[in-house]
Amino acid sequence: MKLQRVLQYAQQLLKEAIEEGDTVVDATAGNGHDTLFLAQLVGDGGQVYAFDVQKSAVDATLHRLLDHSLEHRALVLHAGHEQVAKHVQKPVAAAIFNLGYLPGSNHDIITKPNTTIQAIEDLLGLLKIGGLIVLVIYHGHPGGKEERDTVIDYVSTLPQKYVHVLKYEFLNQQNDPPFVIALEKMKELPKNP
Ligand SMILES: C[S@@+](CC[C@H](N)C(=O)[O-])C[C@H]1O[C@@H](n2cnc3c(N)ncnc32)[C@H](O)[C@@H]1O
Repeated sequence: MKLQRVLQYAQQLLKEAIEEGDTVVDATAGNGHDTLFLAQLVGDGGQVYAFDVQKSAVDATLHRLLDHSLEHRALVLHAGHEQVAKHVQKPVAAAIFNLGYLPGSNHDIITKPNTTIQAIEDLLGLLKIGGLIVLVIYHGHPGGKEERDTVIDYVSTLPQKYVHVLKYEFLNQQNDPPFVIALEKMKELPKNP
């Protein structure tokens, strides 16, 4: 028996939530690893919407898709995930966030508490029943702990009859290891639950 590592676990959750033909979201495209993974899962009938505020990340993601001849399955947007509701109109089966900065890039460009919460809120509205939002939370960098705490506070208050909230975390690893939060939509949320 080997406990699944955090990234493996996040991918396992996505695999279980996504079927061919689904609409899905990569909220933080970065170098496009998750966008590619999602594009492989949705098949030719599905659609990935990928967001990033850095042009270099958009380009890297497009290149990765092109390398695998899967560019037709994804729309890679040079836009913040807080604009998800403007761009996505169809019911969403799953979304993934990798919070923090892009390794090997500008460490000052990080995901931020307010825009992350805005995107989660809008995605909860867009999710189909049974749909999943997976957040991989990196919190070792400056600003990371503030974002971590804001996200934990927000998801902890979501009423369980509408959303199930899970945390997957190794408790004895050193150096602020990342952890996973997963939100499963159980029921349509009222405007102000
Ligand atoms: C940890 S990296 C993502 C890694 C990525 N999943 C991969 O596979 O390479 C976080 C990314 O979030 C992006 N980002 C920061 N703020 C954002 C926002 N408001 N909307 C979308 N992306 C954002 C950063 O530019 C960075 O590329």
